[in-house]
Amino acid sequence: MKLSSLKALTIILALIITSCHHNADLSVAPPRPIPPGPEFLCSHDTIYFRNSVLPVILTGCARVGCHDEASHKSNKILDNYAGIIKLVTPFDPQNSVLYKVLFSYSEGRMPPGTPFNLSQKSIIYWWIAQGAYNNRCDSAGCDSSNVTYTASISPIVANWCLGCHGGSSPAYSISLETYSDVVACANSNRLMGALRHQTGFYPMPKGGESLSPCEINLFQDWINLGKPQ
Ligand code: HEC
Repeated sequence: MKLSSLKALTIILALIITSCHHNADLSVAPPRPIPPGPEFLCSHDTIYFRNSVLPVILTGCARVGCHDEASHKSNKILDNYAGIIKLVTPFDPQNSVLYKVLFSYSEGRMPPGTPFNLSQKSIIYWWIAQGAYNNRCDSAGCDSSNVTYTASISPIVANWCLGCHGGSSPAYSISLETYSDVVACANSNRLMGALRHQTGFYPMPKGGESLSPCEINLFQDWINLGKPQ
């Protein structure tokens, strides 16, 4: 092969590779999130802020030392809708900072540690594409049979609490990482008041939203049953 055609081939290959790399994700719509099961009584086509988006952002962004209220890195508090919507151009994910930062971006990719996976990215993408409304589905059922820590409580805590109450310096020195941590928190009698947003308690999850009534009831059922593991 002549040198010039070899060069041309190399350039073409390089172009293909870099354009694929450049296209990697940001300009391509991710697949729609998997619709919830039959226990979910609201619209199966809608991505709800409270149900799907906020847990992803609380876990990935509003962590202690990052974009929680106390640290508010780059002046951004991402534990509530008002703070999150500032980074969004409704209906236009590709022009929304909240979506762009999940990929390589001038200020670096977010979150700095483990990148969001495809399912987390698609939740953010489709919520913005649908208009980025402050919506929630409260009739979303939750399985209240056989309530145990492992089956019922730990998944909720992982989604809604560990961003702040996990790691080596958990918020308010309350760790909720293990079964015994959550038992200790329940025994302190601060848990249900915080989840129910009762006066005299700090409302949790922090940021103003609450768990769904069904999820709050799961915690109460679990306590009533003697906190089975
Ligand atoms: C965005 C960070 C954040 C998230 C998410 C969060 N917490 Fe907290 N939590 C805090 C902070 C900070 C405090 C200290 C009080 C304050 O500043 O509001 C606290 C305090 C508490 C308290 C003490 C309340 C009291 O009145 O004594 C409990 C209990 C608690 N959290 C449980 C939870 C549970 C359960 C979840 C998940 C459903 C959760 N938190 C989610 C940051 C968070």
